[in-house]
Parts: sequence; C-alpha cells; structure tokens
Amino acid sequence: MGSTTETTGTTGTTGTTGTAADQALKARHRALWALGDYASVAADVIPELGPVLVEASGIRPGDRVLDVAAGSGNVAVPAAAAGARVIASDLTPELFVAGREFAARSGVEVQWEEGDAEALPYRDGAFDAVLSCVGVMFAPHHQRAADELVRVCRPGGTIGLLSWTPQGFVGEMFKAMKPYAPPPPPGAQPPPLWGDEDHVRSLLGDRVTGLDMERRTLTTGPFPSPEAWRDYWKTVYGPTIAAYRGIADDPEKVAALDADLAALATRFDRGDGATVMDWEYLLVTARTRD
Ligand SMILES: C[S@@+](CC[C@H](N)C(=O)[O-])C[C@H]1O[C@@H](n2cnc3c(N)ncnc32)[C@H](O)[C@@H]1O
Repeated sequence: MGSTTETTGTTGTTGTTGTAADQALKARHRALWALGDYASVAADVIPELGPVLVEASGIRPGDRVLDVAAGSGNVAVPAAAAGARVIASDLTPELFVAGREFAARSGVEVQWEEGDAEALPYRDGAFDAVLSCVGVMFAPHHQRAADELVRVCRPGGTIGLLSWTPQGFVGEMFKAMKPYAPPPPPGAQPPPLWGDEDHVRSLLGDRVTGLDMERRTLTTGPFPSPEAWRDYWKTVYGPTIAAYRGIADDPEKVAALDADLAALATRFDRGDGATVMDWEYLLVTARTRD
C-alpha cells in the first residue's frame, strides 16, 4: 500500500500480543511454519486457491487489501495483480523471502509485514477487503482472530476466507496426526473448525451481512503413489514435519504414522495409475455492516 500511516494505529481489541504462554505458543507456531518448504506447497499443490479467493471476493483496482496469514503470497500476489494495494501479513516472516520472489516474478508490489492474526497491527476499518486462504484458521483462538478480521475491515467492506473442512482431506490429515502430537495447550482450537459453516456463522455473528458459504474441492496431484505424496509432505509441510520430529526416537510410532498417512491418501485417491485427490474447502464471503 502507498503508506503505512493509512493503516497503522491501535493494535487488536485484544490490546496486546498476549500472555507469556501465548507468546511462547506463537513462537512455536512460527518455528513450525518455517520448517520444510511451505512455499513449494503454495506454488505446486494449492496455487489455484489464491486466485479463487481473490475472484470470489470481487477485488478491484485500488482496493486496500489485507492478506492475513499470507505465507508466501498465495492471495496477496493475485490480489496485487488485480490492481489492489496489498499488505501481506504473517506470523512467519521467513516465508516472505519466497513471497518477495513470487511478487517480483509476477511484476507486482506487495508490502510484507510480520503480524499475529489475533492482534493485527492496523487501525479499525483500515482495509476494503480482509482475506485469508487456509491461513487464519491456524491462529489458535478463533474468536479473537475473527474479531480482528472484522475490526480492520471498513464498514461495508469484504471479508473473504478459504479454509479446509473438518471432513475433507486436510481435516482428516490433522485428525490422523493428532495421536502422534503433543496435546494442544488449553484454549487452542482445531484449525479445520474454520471449515464448518455453523462455526463461521457464530464467529462472525451479526457484524456481517450477505454471508455466503460454499464447499468446493481442489484437485491435487498427480503424485506417483500415496506413499510418494506422504514422503513429499513429510519434507515440506511444517505441521507434518513437527509431528514426525516429536516421535523421531520411537520407530514404531514413525512406522504407524507412515502407514496412517499413506492409508489416508489411498482412501482419497481417485487417480488411475497415479494419486489424484480432491481436497474439500469452505469458501466464505461476507460484507461487514455499514
Ligand atoms: C497453510 S499456510 C497458508 C499460507 C497462505 N495463506 C497460502 O494460501 O498459501 C498457514 C499460514 O498461517 C500462518 N499463521 C499461523 N498462525 C498464525 C497467526 N497466529 N497469525 C498470523 N499468521 C499465522 C503461518 O505462518 C502460515 O504462513
């Protein structure tokens, strides 16, 4: 965006970046998302999703857009290509290196700023559109994050969200990894809940109008086999890498998680000779009340 003075101001209604425990949790999340090669997931597995969200949100030239939990710019870059003035905000600035390269390759300008979705460092109503693609769902306190999305969006502006559903492939993958990971801290909510219509309705409440929610699928692959998907995923996707690191000294658990993830990919595989999967997501658009 032209100037940060348009957007900076009071931080989130939470007022702080959280307690010491919250800060420690966020530091762990940042380290987790910096593992592996998330930018390759964004570029090679889910690149269609950013443009889907930008189009569904009706982004127009000149719009002030905030991409929350932007990662390497899956939404921010196509929004900028649509002519918007875009800030890409994320807890994990390590991902901005790939984001900046993506923006440069695409010939667009994006402002990259570190920030927690639960305490966004922007003034009330600073943006015409606040978007997040499989991003804000990973902030652990859903109501806090939802309140922030609404707060920084101007009255009559657009909220656009794309989240994996609990029943879809990624929701099932988190379920499969759960027995192998340490329990989440008290109060932290499961990310795929953001893919549930009732949950989203209750998070946004009557502060929005025209709430539109549609389940769609993203086709991924082909991967050579379910095991090949798993072995790729174990090297690129932070949450999966972290789950394996936590059980690295227990070969039986590693073998069991290997088998569970391959079985999951086999269950979703609709390919013929290669592994092709449909991953369900919930696409949400709404307007903040005038
Ligand atoms: C699956 S990636 C999605 C990135 C990008 N939106 C995309 O479509 O590729 C999840 C992102 O959420 C970010 N994230 C996790 N917790 C966050 C938080 N509390 N505040 C801001 N970003 C967060 C991670 O750093 C990561 O970049």
